Amino acid sequence: MALNDGMIERVFSGVQPTGNLHLGNYLGAIRKFVDLQQKFDSCLYCVVDMHAITVWQDPAELTKNIREVTASFIASGVDPKKHIIFNQSQVSGHAELAWIFNCVARMGWLNRMTQFKEKAGKHKENASVGLYAYPVLMAADILLYRATHVPVGEDQKQHLELARDIAQKFNKDFAEPIAEAGFADGFFPQPDPLIAGTATRVMSLKDGSQKMSKSAASDLSRINLSDDAETIAKKIRKARTDPDGLPSEEKGLEGRAEARNLVNIYAALSDSTVEDVLKQYGGQQFSAFKPALSELAVAKMKPIGDEMNRLMDDPGHIDEILRDGAVRAREISQPVMKAVKGIVGFI
Ligand code: AMP
Ligand code: TRP
Repeated sequence: MALNDGMIERVFSGVQPTGNLHLGNYLGAIRKFVDLQQKFDSCLYCVVDMHAITVWQDPAELTKNIREVTASFIASGVDPKKHIIFNQSQVSGHAELAWIFNCVARMGWLNRMTQFKEKAGKHKENASVGLYAYPVLMAADILLYRATHVPVGEDQKQHLELARDIAQKFNKDFAEPIAEAGFADGFFPQPDPLIAGTATRVMSLKDGSQKMSKSAASDLSRINLSDDAETIAKKIRKARTDPDGLPSEEKGLEGRAEARNLVNIYAALSDSTVEDVLKQYGGQQFSAFKPALSELAVAKMKPIGDEMNRLMDDPGHIDEILRDGAVRAREISQPVMKAVKGIVGFI
């Protein structure tokens, strides 16, 4: 099929190999990858190692973490034969397209990115140039495959909007060569973020105003995919709550971030709604709800953790899956990159 035969629907998403994969990554992203592979013929799930090094990574740890994210995709149920699992640095098109996009995106657009401000903190002058350009590389990841659907957590919404802006500006700036090359509706699609459900922003177990994150100092703030049953139960037992019991209606969760978070997690893990959970547990104390949540979390998460550990025992097999995925990712991206170079005027 020629590239200009029209856009096909394609899913792309990425996870950084920065350690401490947690329940937020699973519920906000990885679990959706699994659902989408039934609905779409072409899904690419990428271990974004080039994004990871925008902040310092110990090389040996990075290697291990690349394998661990790969293992988490497979253990969660992504099929690496039907779809594509690979790591970003093995496909050179990501870096090539990111450079071209660096010349399309405007400083003003990047200056508005809240994640850069959060991550760079007070020491902006000392942040890497890569951290600043991070969202441009993310746009390149998606558009290198002309992907149309991007499952992510809530925190990536602004980056997705930037990817849409870059696609639009590229289509406009190069409208003439794009039309000449036979692309009637522009070259890049407008990728749609897929952000839905009760777990698009899983919060810290210790502070309902902070999102659950890989980098939080306290390990008690998150449930890691590698936690054993006892650790999961302990973290839920120690999770911060307020003195009241569970309300029977959703409006009773207003202003109660920690209570809402635990109910959201229960709803996501049980594939139900907040309303259903409150119907069942409304009026009960956390001393009754927490053990039920622990049991559910262990039932859902432990098989994944066990399978990850099993896969991690054979790094050669994981590396082979990544190599094979990269070959197939290149097959899709090379014609796109070739067309982009022609459109821009490179020889
Ligand atoms: P990262 O670990 O930053 O590469 O994130 C990988 C994926 O997990 C992205 O789609 C994020 O939006 C998602 N994610 C990260 N933290 C959370 C969270 N606390 N709740 C929901 N989704 C999250
Ligand atoms: N920035 C995303 C995150 O930290 C990871 C990512 C990189 C990504 N490239 C992507 C997500 C492309 C979706 C699509 O969570």
